[in-house]
Order: sequence, then C-alpha cells, then structure tokens
Amino acid sequence: MYICLCKGITESDVKECGRNGFINPQALACRLGINADDCCGRCVRNIEEIVALACNEHADAAHEPKSRPHLHLRQ
Ligand code: FES
Repeated sequence: MYICLCKGITESDVKECGRNGFINPQALACRLGINADDCCGRCVRNIEEIVALACNEHADAAHEPKSRPHLHLRQ
C-alpha cells in the first residue's frame, strides 16, 4: 500500500525505517523525503499514522530474537 503517492513511498518503506530506528515525525519525514513544501503534503498531514506504523515495526523488531539460543545437549 502506498503511503505517499507523490514519491511512491510504500508501507514497507515506512516499516523498514521503523526497524532502523526512525520513529519520530521529523526523522521519518527526513528519511522518507516527504515534505509539504515539495509536494502536495497529503502524507505529511497523516504523519501520526506513519509514526505509529514505524513504531509498531520498531517494537516488533526489538522483540525478535537476534539468534537461536545455543543448546547444550548432554549425552
Ligand atoms: S502524498 Fe506525499 S507528498 Fe503528496
């Protein structure tokens, strides 16, 4: 799904930003290159929804295990 039609930014792009720690409005707008002065600004008016999507992804990424636990098997 497109978040920003003018620049072709998708939900996946926003989630990737969230996984990389871009979770506040200014950082997200800068990273995604969305700016009400450059384009229509429709997506910028919905920045809180974009932030929520990025924050959810950031939280999910923080809870994913980095690697599988190492098991010590006794014989
Ligand atoms: S929809 Fe994002 S700038 Fe127009």
